[in-house]
Amino acid sequence: MSVIFEILDKDAGGRIGKLRTPHGTVETPTVMPVINPNIQLISPRTMKDFGAEILITNSYIIYRKEELRKIALEKGLHKLMDFDGPIMTDSGSFQLSVYGSVEVTNEEILGFQQKIGSDIIVPLDIPTPPDVHYKRAEEELGITYERLEVARKFIQGEQLLAGPVQGSTYLDLREKAAFQLRNLKFEVYPLGAVVPLMETYRYAELVDLVAASKKGLSPVSPVHLFGAGHPMMFSLAVALGCDLFDSAAYALYAKDGRYITVNGTYHVEKLNYLPCFCPICSKYTAQELKKADNREELLGKHNLYATFAEIRLIKQCIKDGKLLELVEKRCRSHPRLLEGLKKLYTHSHWLEQLDPATKGTYFYCGPESSSRPEILRFGKRLERFSFEGSVLIRTDPVKGEGNYDQILNFKAPFGAFPVEMEEVYPFNAEVPKFPDYEALSTALLNTLKLMVLNPKAEFTFVCEKESQHPLFEEISKNANLVYREALENK
Ligand code: GUN
Ligand code: ZN
Repeated sequence: MSVIFEILDKDAGGRIGKLRTPHGTVETPTVMPVINPNIQLISPRTMKDFGAEILITNSYIIYRKEELRKIALEKGLHKLMDFDGPIMTDSGSFQLSVYGSVEVTNEEILGFQQKIGSDIIVPLDIPTPPDVHYKRAEEELGITYERLEVARKFIQGEQLLAGPVQGSTYLDLREKAAFQLRNLKFEVYPLGAVVPLMETYRYAELVDLVAASKKGLSPVSPVHLFGAGHPMMFSLAVALGCDLFDSAAYALYAKDGRYITVNGTYHVEKLNYLPCFCPICSKYTAQELKKADNREELLGKHNLYATFAEIRLIKQCIKDGKLLELVEKRCRSHPRLLEGLKKLYTHSHWLEQLDPATKGTYFYCGPESSSRPEILRFGKRLERFSFEGSVLIRTDPVKGEGNYDQILNFKAPFGAFPVEMEEVYPFNAEVPKFPDYEALSTALLNTLKLMVLNPKAEFTFVCEKESQHPLFEEISKNANLVYREALENK
């Protein structure tokens, strides 16, 4: 049997992959538009026109409604939905989290999803909300685990089975749950009960939670972030290793008159211009869109276009090794997302292990760029350099540098490295001429480390007049610190 998930390209924790299902192969990362079997704002058949490769719907809604259940059992899910590509089905767990109970058992809903021909089946997991008592999170996790064990024995054919990772906001429970599920070998791993975190902009906690879950899972398993549908946070989640998203947002937002962009959401009533070039926004003015009889449908379509445009951009960035630069840009659209970005880089040691050793040129995008995995990697590899004799550290060539045994280039946020390597990745980085405080801090700390590692070398550090930093005092204890001007005028 061919592998179900194949990874083709990687950048940071993100990847481009192929997921094989009975109704065809899907390229990830991607978003599954949520189709409500009762109300269809946009016909599933046309979803491919927006870029959708796979849909998700709720098997519990179909199961509960006689007319729908009958068609699904007689003709199959794909005929009912009028879509011939892959369809994932949820189990009713979401209803369980909203209403507290459902009128179906795990076995019943699994059997139903299997019979109607779902491509990705979800068991009846318990979505434990954030911030509950540890004991409750632990107990519910135990029930979820038992149900998933049953599901794994039950579903063994062509259809894919998802194993949701729960554990509320407890990182140890998330990692443990993920690690246990890994042994049951699910084809897809959704991270569950994160909707309340996203609704309240708790992105920093979301980052920790995704990272903890990912650390427990196999790095080659596909991961679905359940209920994530706003494109402004896709790149952040992809960088952490999420491959699948599902969006009800395109329709729910349209119903409320909300217009999605990668930088946040506008209420259509407040828009004077349409900042997008999708077919809808090219055809209508803001005034026309507001007044259109089919406003909800038009907004839903724009929301889908905006969602899939971001997915394509993310994939291109992965190809180019530029994913983290996109994440840094996107996370500047909301202070709470910026917290998420800072949190992402607290996991740089882990990301560094996943990040390709060479990739596209590093571009400095702001203070957070100083904590990227590439910079951390350089810091870890300083031991590889060994110097003796007179060593000059400078940013640009200086007069008389030929008199030194070794010349090092100083480039923030890296630090000092042999000048012969300046065109080599990652030292070919594009950085501002005048580094900010964070970049200079990282570079000076790395340089100090290099000096301590090479006690036999005699360092001269050429400093620019405008460079101010408390660490220069420390540098002066380990090197002969001179101003460029003083050297040039000699
Ligand atoms: N939809 C949103 N969150 C969840 C979850 O945790 N589990 C399931 N099955 N569906 C969801
Ligand atoms: Zn548009």
